[in-house]
Amino acid sequence: MGHMINIGVIGYGYWGPNLVRNFMDLPGVQVRTVSDFKPELLAKAQSRYPTIQVTTNCKDIFADPKIDAVAIATPVSTHFDLALAALQAGKHVLVEKPMAVSSEQAMRLIEEAQKRKLVLMVDHTFVYTGAVRKMRELITTSVIGDIYYYDSVRVNLGLFQHDVNVIWDLAVHDLSIMDYLLARQPYAVSATGINHIPGEPENIAYLTLFFESNLIAHIHVNWLAPVKVRRTLIGGSQKMIVYDDLEPSEKVKIYDKGITVNSKNSESVYQMLIGYRAGDMWSPHLDMTEALRTEGLHFIRCIEQGERPITDGEAGLRVVRILEAATQSVKRQGRLVELDLERVAA
Ligand SMILES: NC(=O)c1ccc[n+]([C@@H]2O[C@H](COP(=O)([O-])OP(=O)(O)OC[C@H]3O[C@@H](n4cnc5c(N)ncnc54)[C@H](O)[C@@H]3O)[C@@H](O)[C@H]2O)c1
Repeated sequence: MGHMINIGVIGYGYWGPNLVRNFMDLPGVQVRTVSDFKPELLAKAQSRYPTIQVTTNCKDIFADPKIDAVAIATPVSTHFDLALAALQAGKHVLVEKPMAVSSEQAMRLIEEAQKRKLVLMVDHTFVYTGAVRKMRELITTSVIGDIYYYDSVRVNLGLFQHDVNVIWDLAVHDLSIMDYLLARQPYAVSATGINHIPGEPENIAYLTLFFESNLIAHIHVNWLAPVKVRRTLIGGSQKMIVYDDLEPSEKVKIYDKGITVNSKNSESVYQMLIGYRAGDMWSPHLDMTEALRTEGLHFIRCIEQGERPITDGEAGLRVVRILEAATQSVKRQGRLVELDLERVAA
């Protein structure tokens, strides 16, 4: 076995403790230091993990030569400064989603990591779930056929964020899942949204993404919904998927449903026959390992083997570019905003 990988975690609010718990569980890995501004959160970390050092000054993490990698779980507006400082201190970085507040910042981080040959990974957590990995397998092995649409609803009551709108908070999950599943980029985005609390960011939004070859995606996100829904339909020419993340185990259901267009005998398009196929439904067995564990193992392997993460800086950038375009579109009540496909090609 190689040497122990030491991790510093910045931000111990809602999400940070999940990162710490998962890293502490991995073989050959230890969280050496946790940083947060709030001493009461640090006290919690320390009582749970007595071996961990704590500090209110994250510079202590950058300055510690024993720390190999830094995980950043602070508000989005702070990701860039913290990730850049970590890279400049020679640390590998795992940064929370969304990677940064602008594509310019994301590109700067990619450049810094490349220059220093450091791993830069974005926590697009869902990509590491058994459900999403199974759907990717079904898509890449042509079980689903040509993808016609991706249609997702991600709504619940709360947690209202103050520094980002609901698109940057929730749609980012769908965008990162789509980036992985479809491995294709939209050429244009149209988005609408509104805020119901004066001066606060949009709490409800609808995004439509246009892709070449008749693939369309729609994402509906909302912090002001009476019930929690996490449901995605993926329509394909061969099969259709219903992905319900709230289902305890049968999160992915594959329906052998669809249409066949039969125009053999028709003299005009009006006589085109649509046949409906309603076959079986099945739910594949899923790897139920916690996503952050799978992701943590992947991060460590990338550090040790010099591999490129699945959710690398480029993946983070592609998602941020769509978020930026959606934000522009919302400001103009859904005006189509085009994305430069050349620039986002990985
Ligand atoms: N991957 C996921 O599924 C997922 C889920 C939730 C949140 N997140 C992401 O995690 C990040 C944090 O979200 P949260 O809900 O945990 O926020 P939070 O406000 O609960 O926690 C953030 C913590 O960071 C601390 N902090 C901020 N700047 C700091 C600094 N310079 N040094 C030390 N500590 C600092 C704050 O004191 C706070 O305790 C966000 O980017 C969010 O998008 C990801």
